[in-house]
Amino acid sequence: MHPSTTFESGLIPDFQRARPRSRSRRASQALRLGAVSWFVTAAIGQLLFVAYIIGFYGRAALGGDMSAWNQVLAHGWEPGNTFGNTVLSLHLIFTVLIIVGGVVQLIPAIRQRWPRFHRYSGRFYILSAVIMSVGGLIMVWTRNTVGDLSQHIAISINALLILCCAWMTLRLAIRRQLDRHRRWAIRLFLVVSGVWFLRVGLMFWIAANQGPVGFDPKSFTGPFLSLISFGQYLIPLAVAEIYFRAQRSQRPAQQWLASGVLALSTLITGAGIAAAGLMMWLPRL
Ligand code: HEM
Repeated sequence: MHPSTTFESGLIPDFQRARPRSRSRRASQALRLGAVSWFVTAAIGQLLFVAYIIGFYGRAALGGDMSAWNQVLAHGWEPGNTFGNTVLSLHLIFTVLIIVGGVVQLIPAIRQRWPRFHRYSGRFYILSAVIMSVGGLIMVWTRNTVGDLSQHIAISINALLILCCAWMTLRLAIRRQLDRHRRWAIRLFLVVSGVWFLRVGLMFWIAANQGPVGFDPKSFTGPFLSLISFGQYLIPLAVAEIYFRAQRSQRPAQQWLASGVLALSTLITGAGIAAAGLMMWLPRL
């Protein structure tokens, strides 16, 4: 038998298979490239957000000037309100830990090289997610924070989704269902990043429209803000679902479509990060 007829069935010469095979290989490579490009872009943007938290809130706290926090927050540091100030301070400290932790958890090389580190830092990430959600819920319903009821409901659903995804991620890791664990961990990362997506999405919108459109920047309310408050987690979760389905499917067309969605998401995320960095984060450092 000719050597080229030996693979798989052994009956079909490989020049007939080569085309569909390389086509599907290219599609799955494009899908992978789309996912990696989005993740690298988002990781850079999240670390920029962390630099702002440390550079603004951390520097003010170290200098003993807690009232500087109120330049940004509507009901930030309140002298005498020990409980409220503690919840807010924990929220800001855990923002740094959870964002750095999330990026580290999703880097495959770290997971593969140091599985024990992944397990311990994963548990800490889950604990941080619980602290962030519960603290956030306390603040949103007790502090008369900016925004209207629709935004408060939207962020509260975000908190519940974080708790739900954290539970699923942990449970599936304990049961060693690693494929499902991986998908839920990505969902957890996305819902934890909801507030970051809101900032990046809002700044993209303002930059694209050359000003605030669809909301009142003074009262921080309006139809666009109500929509984006739900979109901050629903849109990333939908894109993740498109990616998961394309990954499981062997159909090149579906994988190309998902790569296109990821490429577009990368462009929008990158532009939003640049706008948020220039308009919001870097000027406060
Ligand atoms: C888990 C991911 C979260 C991160 C990384 C995060 C991060 C932050 C940061 C950095 C601030 C300061 C505002 C700024 O400088 O931009 C903040 C404020 C705030 N966060 Fe979160 N947050 C998260 C989740 C939540 C959730 C789920 C809620 C509500 C359910 C929430 C409620 C609040 C409130 C109400 C404030 C304003 C506090 C005030 O004005 O006194 N956060 N958050």
